[in-house]
Amino acid sequence: MLGGMNAGHAKMADWGLSYLPDIRQQRIADLGCGGGRNAGELLRRYPESRLVALDYSELSVEKTRAYNEKMIRAGRCEAVQGDVHHLELPDDTFDLVTAFETVYFWGELAECFAEVCRILKEGGLFLICNESDGTDEAGLKYEKIIEGMKCYTEQQLKQALRAAGFSSVEVHRRSGKPWITVLGRK
Ligand SMILES: C[S@@+](CC[C@H](N)C(=O)[O-])C[C@H]1O[C@@H](n2cnc3c(N)ncnc32)[C@H](O)[C@@H]1O
Repeated sequence: MLGGMNAGHAKMADWGLSYLPDIRQQRIADLGCGGGRNAGELLRRYPESRLVALDYSELSVEKTRAYNEKMIRAGRCEAVQGDVHHLELPDDTFDLVTAFETVYFWGELAECFAEVCRILKEGGLFLICNESDGTDEAGLKYEKIIEGMKCYTEQQLKQALRAAGFSSVEVHRRSGKPWITVLGRK
């Protein structure tokens, strides 16, 4: 399943990543990292970066370690188990925090987004990338089947980011698909 997510989410994740400004991303955290593919892609795109990949599933952490073995050996990547509600990561540290296909499961969005805001440096970016914009048929169907899942609309994500302290929020949509990329700046 984790291997399937790595392959299945790659196209959408790369679309989301295309909205990042062309700057050096030194310290990155990928939250809800799943199988670790997107962590690997970020490390490839930002050759000077160091990245922490975090997931509350031990299996995801193991898979991320295996996927990014070389980068871990090179000292550029660390995969840790943790919950986005209480990040054991220091304040004002990251230039970029990413969340691909994961905020659906975070529950208390404002609380989790406040944690993201806390670990970002001033001016740092939070990238959220979702296949569902909270209005599409497929997303709403999964919501009913998967316990604890919630597909958020653009407005709900914007509101939660502003409430968490992000100073600006920008949204991108993919034509013909319900994909949504949201960029919040601390
Ligand atoms: C659908 S998968 C997406 C994985 C990966 N980001 C991708 O795009 O392929 C969602 C991931 O978020 C993780 N997750 C969900 N809630 C979490 C939380 N509160 N803290 C940390 N990880 C969480 C899950 O364990 C799972 O690996």
